[in-house]
Amino acid sequence: MSVEHVEKVYNTYSSVYDLIFGPVFNSGREMAPDLLNLYPGARLLEVGAGTGLSIAEMPRDIEITGVDLSQKMLDKAHKRMAQLGRADVQLLKMDATRLEFGDNSFDRVLAAYFVSTVPDPVRVVHEMKRVCKPGGIIVIMNHFTHEVPLVGALERFLSPLFYRVGFRTDLSARPLMEECGLEVDRFEKIDFMGNWKAVRCFNRK
Ligand SMILES: C[S@@+](CC[C@H](N)C(=O)[O-])C[C@H]1O[C@@H](n2cnc3c(N)ncnc32)[C@H](O)[C@@H]1O
Repeated sequence: MSVEHVEKVYNTYSSVYDLIFGPVFNSGREMAPDLLNLYPGARLLEVGAGTGLSIAEMPRDIEITGVDLSQKMLDKAHKRMAQLGRADVQLLKMDATRLEFGDNSFDRVLAAYFVSTVPDPVRVVHEMKRVCKPGGIIVIMNHFTHEVPLVGALERFLSPLFYRVGFRTDLSARPLMEECGLEVDRFEKIDFMGNWKAVRCFNRK
């Protein structure tokens, strides 16, 4: 699926996204500030920031930039930030596979429910790594294929179907991190079934 198709899908979802994917994914979003180990003045980038639901969980004493491909998702994020009185948050329309930031620009980089929505997750994670400072923290929250082989096989089989509606289900966490040269520091279940996980990595360049 092309980047253009992904953008179209999320433009369409934007009006109902919070209703459908708001409460369902909130447990992960609430864990994000702690996993990111934030400190006053830290520069945080969220890739695939969507309607700003994760940003809304962040403390006010950090510098936040959110990027997303879908203008309609970003419009919602702008509205949310205005309601929260967070004019300081920078929201930009940008393709996360080609981040328009210099190397080592951020202390922390977050991808919440995002990497499985892109055609090339490896490229996105490489970009997250590039813009993150050495020693910085990268947190990825996502659906990863189940460790139980039969469930994992079913998820891989169904992945092309799910991808038509915006996300793939055939992504394995550890091979992705290994391919991108990221060392996993924490690996946490987000939901009680263990289908969704948060992976925290230190950016050792
Ligand atoms: C499932 S939503 C997650 C949104 C948000 N992080 C959250 O917690 O609700 C995935 C988001 O990634 C965006 N997206 C998909 N591909 C992208 C890309 N290549 N670059 C930037 N954003 C992208 C979509 O537009 C969508 O807003």
